[in-house]
Amino acid sequence: MAETTFGRRAVNDGKLVYRLREGKRITLDTLERIEAFVAAGLGVAPPPRGLVVPLERRDPRSNFRFFENRQKYLLFVHTCGEKRVVADRVALELANIHPRPPALRVFDAGCGDGTVLARVLRAMHGRFPQVPFYVSGKELSVEDLRLTLDKVPDRLFEHPASVFVFTNMNYAEAPWLTPASSAAAAGMIWHEVALRGGSSGEFETQIAELAPFLQDNWRANVSPRTGMPVYERPVAIVLYREDHRFLLDAVIPRAGRTEANFDLIVASQPYRAKSSVNFRAKRIIAPLARALRPGGRLIGIHSHGHDPGLEIVQSIWPDENPFSVSRHELLRAVKYELGSAGRDLNFNAYADNRSIFRYDMEALPNEVTGPIGNSTAFAAWNAAVYVAQIEDDRITEVTRDGQYLEATREVLRKHSGLWFNDESYVISRRRD
Ligand SMILES: C[S@@+](CC[C@H](N)C(=O)[O-])C[C@H]1O[C@@H](n2cnc3c(N)ncnc32)[C@H](O)[C@@H]1O
Repeated sequence: MAETTFGRRAVNDGKLVYRLREGKRITLDTLERIEAFVAAGLGVAPPPRGLVVPLERRDPRSNFRFFENRQKYLLFVHTCGEKRVVADRVALELANIHPRPPALRVFDAGCGDGTVLARVLRAMHGRFPQVPFYVSGKELSVEDLRLTLDKVPDRLFEHPASVFVFTNMNYAEAPWLTPASSAAAAGMIWHEVALRGGSSGEFETQIAELAPFLQDNWRANVSPRTGMPVYERPVAIVLYREDHRFLLDAVIPRAGRTEANFDLIVASQPYRAKSSVNFRAKRIIAPLARALRPGGRLIGIHSHGHDPGLEIVQSIWPDENPFSVSRHELLRAVKYELGSAGRDLNFNAYADNRSIFRYDMEALPNEVTGPIGNSTAFAAWNAAVYVAQIEDDRITEVTRDGQYLEATREVLRKHSGLWFNDESYVISRRRD
């Protein structure tokens, strides 16, 4: 049949074949519809997808991290004080690290919008004003990378002896800037920019000029095998001030000549609430712990519950319990995963009063005591369902009527505000 007829009959898109030939991508859903159409034409059953794809596979349309929750994340970051409180908690670790020449090395295991990193770097400057910094951040989402890059010019102005490296590689690769597979390594893109001038405005302009490069190269797909977001090609961008190139020579990483050896690793909300303890340990925290240098410290932070935020969620979904993996369980799994490689690590869960900390929705007092306006109630609801990581389709179901906002108002009134709890833990490598 004509290719336009094929596209139209398979997926109601006459240009399908033309677009594929041009190198355009399709979703898994479209692929399955095409396969079903071909199978029906041949009189055979479609390929047994359910059998060949691991059970953990999720529909890309319901992929929580990438496709649904961006607006929720941004609203949450700007209406709740979490990222500030997290950075304050991380900054306490600066008293316990012992950087060695040529630089203090810090790794952000998921930059998000860069608020945590920017605040930690300010605290680092306060404590180590004359020490060169090697700052490395992992972020798969190009939108989040852009927001993080927005925070770089001011840091470079205040702390000129800084090298920034951003990468889209995964947790087991990013600290070493080395892709695990040789095929990925062969396609790796290494982009170094020595920023000219001396003002934050000049740095900003040159960083903004990276936009087309990022557009073309900082691309993520959904793995057909696992349903998780993955990079298309591994990328590392390296930024520093040209006028400090000489001083930073031993700090600037070179393709093929990289190291991890971090003094401080920040893992703020690095996993989904519903991911299993084994996934967190094996894929995220154990690889990061391997990247610590002697004396280095990894601080992990995730949501804890037992707060008015969860009360809002449970007033709508009484059985919802999203924070089922505690730091104790996680650290046990990480220790087991590392085996003998964990010999020189300390796993510090701390007592609750040291580990658990609270952050608030930042409302004016009269916004949560008198009549509660829609935008306050909505920001509170957003924060509650974001932190509990409720899927979009379940939210849509309950937001058809106004009951969810009334339930939110009730919790706000009862507590004269809204707050949440996070818990933290530290993995440290003993000093030589
Ligand atoms: C965008 S990030 C975290 C980035 C960055 N480290 C930060 O703390 O903002 C990756 C994951 O964190 C989740 N996340 C971020 N803040 C959260 C919070 N306070 N509670 C629960 N999940 C959160 C997101 O849903 C997502 O799955």
